[in-house]
Amino acid sequence: MKPEHLKSPFSWGERKVQIHDRVWYAPEYSVHDGAFIFPGWEHPDLFGNQNPVQVEYCSGNGAWIAARALAEPNSNWVAVERKFPRVQKIWSKIKNLNLNNLLVVCGEGHNITTRYFPSESVSSIYINFPDPWPKKRHAKHRLIQPAFVGEMRRALKPDALFTFVTDDEPYSQWTIEALHGDSGFNNCYPSPYYSIDYPEYGTSYFEQLWREKGKIIRYHQFSRK
Ligand SMILES: C[S@@+](CC[C@H](N)C(=O)[O-])C[C@H]1O[C@@H](n2cnc3c(N)ncnc32)[C@H](O)[C@@H]1O
Repeated sequence: MKPEHLKSPFSWGERKVQIHDRVWYAPEYSVHDGAFIFPGWEHPDLFGNQNPVQVEYCSGNGAWIAARALAEPNSNWVAVERKFPRVQKIWSKIKNLNLNNLLVVCGEGHNITTRYFPSESVSSIYINFPDPWPKKRHAKHRLIQPAFVGEMRRALKPDALFTFVTDDEPYSQWTIEALHGDSGFNNCYPSPYYSIDYPEYGTSYFEQLWREKGKIIRYHQFSRK
């Protein structure tokens, strides 16, 4: 299956939240707002089992999460990506690798979490190379914000891990401060609160790109209290 074989099931004027063929469409402002009720991770339209749910926000082309889903079939994996052409790429990996344990959400991370993810239902969260928004006046667009950290805390199970990976030093500091500012998380790393090495973590499109350019990658990990 090629990415372009995935067609949107609705026109812009008829957009609505729905799950179809391993894709959960969650437009932020849907026409039929409120008509969709989240059926639970174990519902057959999602995973049809009670395996642990692991979520990656900002999945891009899905290289990292598809490899993890292939390697860990006893977990359920959720890729959250807002851009449809990238969702199409993730969907083609789901189809070509026969990944029944991977679902892709076409939507915005904070929005979908707040609206649908049940409390204490997620076993791990990962964010790999989110857009850094380097200009100060654009920092408000970063995914990591106190309210989103609070939503991750709510969605995660006690003791669950949140892993954040970036090459961007200001975003690294920003994230450490945001997580330290929330009383619901412990930092797994001592000062300076990250590691530059995480063997067997897996690789993504942007990880390869930045490594080829000689950038240092920072791995952060926090556990939910
Ligand atoms: C720099 S790319 C990284 C992609 C991938 N994680 C990797 O390492 O190759 C960031 C991705 O996050 C997506 N994104 C940015 N903000 C988002 C949000 N709030 N919710 C969902 N996806 C988002 C972008 O569309 C883009 O595909």
